[in-house]
Amino acid sequence: MCENHKDNKGVFLAQVRYNEPIGDYYYRLSLEFSGKGAASFAKAKPGQFLEIKVNTLSTPAISDIPEHLRDTSRRNVLLRRPFSFVDIQTVDENKTVVDIIYLVTGASTVRMTTLSPQDELSVTGPLGNGFSIDNSKDCVILVAGGVGVPPIEHVANWLVQNRKDVKILAFIGARSKAHLPFASTQRADAKGIEELESIGVETFVTTDDGSFGDSGFVTDRLSKWLSANKIVADKTLILSCGPEPMLKNLSKLAEKSNIDTQVSLERIMACGIGLCQSCAVEVNAESKGQTNNNTETTYKLCCKDGPVFNSKEVIW
Ligand SMILES: Cc1cc2nc3c(=O)[nH]c(=O)nc-3n(C[C@H](O)[C@H](O)[C@H](O)COP(=O)(O)OP(=O)(O)OC[C@H]3O[C@@H](n4cnc5c(N)ncnc54)[C@H](O)[C@@H]3O)c2cc1C
Ligand code: FES
Repeated sequence: MCENHKDNKGVFLAQVRYNEPIGDYYYRLSLEFSGKGAASFAKAKPGQFLEIKVNTLSTPAISDIPEHLRDTSRRNVLLRRPFSFVDIQTVDENKTVVDIIYLVTGASTVRMTTLSPQDELSVTGPLGNGFSIDNSKDCVILVAGGVGVPPIEHVANWLVQNRKDVKILAFIGARSKAHLPFASTQRADAKGIEELESIGVETFVTTDDGSFGDSGFVTDRLSKWLSANKIVADKTLILSCGPEPMLKNLSKLAEKSNIDTQVSLERIMACGIGLCQSCAVEVNAESKGQTNNNTETTYKLCCKDGPVFNSKEVIW
């Protein structure tokens, strides 16, 4: 089933391959697309996203819902929900596999935990703009916080496969060890993030409570690293996704260090395709070519113009 737009996006049926918990907070959902859906998602870029129709999903038994989400889980869920890709694999021209990692945080994501292999889902996508990495950069610093990890893990794999000339570093932060959305860090004997280190990405981890990696905020760890290491600012690019306070701090640090930075923002989204205006992001009017006065601001849409923005254009 597909309603084609002028680009690759459409509404497609996906079949669930698996839906498995990662520790106490996250699930990894693997979806298989065939036909036009396979062709569209095969062309998707890291940083783009999809929206899942959730209102047809059943609610789990009350005993299977985390206690703090039992009240909120009774809510009706009308709107599709947005999720970034953590991995996209083209199997053949008629089969593309797209994985997402989701945090169980409310009525829709609680319902998503009931998905089983062979279930069918209505998915809109691929949506948004994605990260863009120009050829002048030879060092990419990835910065992710908590549930911002999936698109950053995706771009790390994409870079390893497509830009062998680029040095990649990753700075990953979370509230605690359990809030790191990696299968490898859920193990009691975990030493690092295998998903990134095994592909050759030098990785630095922080947790707010010091339960894994260094104690503190990921932006402070990056700041320390930048002070201790000589980098060529105009050959370096920072790509980031995570909570807005983290992105705001990163944006200040990047401006001070003169490093181009792209941030992937989250907004509550309804249509996902630029029609409902529910996902506005305040930006410099100059970045939209609307004025020469750099104090004026205007709005872009997170779903259509983003979710990836140049950190300098966002009004934090
Ligand atoms: C472009 C984009 C990519 C995203 N990628 C991922 C991803 O890869 N993995 C993932 O787990 N989540 C991701 N999210 C967030 C995800 O869409 C929300 O967590 C989800 O919609 C919550 O739905 P719910 O009904 O379970 O919770 P709700 O009951 O709707 O909300 C629970 C809590 O989450 C907050 N919330 C709801 N929607 C959003 C949102 N869009 N952004 C920030 N906070 C929100 C609410 O304010 C509330 O506090 C992404 C969001 C966007 C916009
Ligand atoms: S979600 Fe409707 S305009 Fe962005």
